[in-house]
Amino acid sequence: MRPTADIAVIGGSGLYALLEGATEHQVETPYGEPSDPVTIAEVGGRRVAFLPRHGRDHRHPPHLIPYRANLWALRSLGVRQVLAPCAVGGLRPELGPGTFVVPDQLIDRTSGRVQTYYDRGAVHVTFADPYCPVGRRTLLDAAAGRGVSAVDGGTMVVVEGPRFSTRAESRWFTAIGGAVVNMTGHPEAVLARELALCYTPIALVTDLDAGVESGESVTQEEVFRVFGENTDRLRGVLLDAVAALPAGRDCPCGRALDGITLPFPLP
Ligand code: ADE
Repeated sequence: MRPTADIAVIGGSGLYALLEGATEHQVETPYGEPSDPVTIAEVGGRRVAFLPRHGRDHRHPPHLIPYRANLWALRSLGVRQVLAPCAVGGLRPELGPGTFVVPDQLIDRTSGRVQTYYDRGAVHVTFADPYCPVGRRTLLDAAAGRGVSAVDGGTMVVVEGPRFSTRAESRWFTAIGGAVVNMTGHPEAVLARELALCYTPIALVTDLDAGVESGESVTQEEVFRVFGENTDRLRGVLLDAVAALPAGRDCPCGRALDGITLPFPLP
């Protein structure tokens, strides 16, 4: 029988497993294989899929993640709501390591990544508000319920990587309104929108990017260490949020393709 799930969590650096007693599924898509087999388990009465964004052995660097295959695979399993934890650098001194942020905006500074499913026809999705308002509220409430303070809102700047930013770039991202910076938030969010999925990031600050003012610059070791120190808190917030997400959707995300003629059917 074909496996199904309602909600997915796409795990970021350091979050390679989430669910206990899960079954594992290899999913094929027209865009190739997703980052890893998808694991599925029941949490709080909901069927939840987990997909480690980088693969469980972290073999996919941010610029080579099979983003289209990942979102397509999840939708083909029945998933309509996606929670997307990720590691980020803080671009403001008050957003130091260990801070959780539920961003509300995104600036794309990637280059050369395939960022659409629609190379034919006129499919222009609205993306003014890139994240699901219900998912954001649910994650913020789940964090509060666990006594984890999470910043409500902030702009996530997504860079191409895999290198970290220069101090000048980092200062510029702050000047243009960025709160946090990472390498995977785009095109994941827009591909979710193009499939009419709800998509909500929860960002864990692992470093102060290129030093914010005059501090030390970020290192890869620091990112993995701080993420590792916070995975238990993150896992708790995610599992509570999954159980609390409303089963029906009355947010705009599910209507993203209304009135648009698609060149092919969605799974
Ligand atoms: N992920 C975690 N920290 C980061 C940073 N400073 N820049 C880009 N991606 C990151």
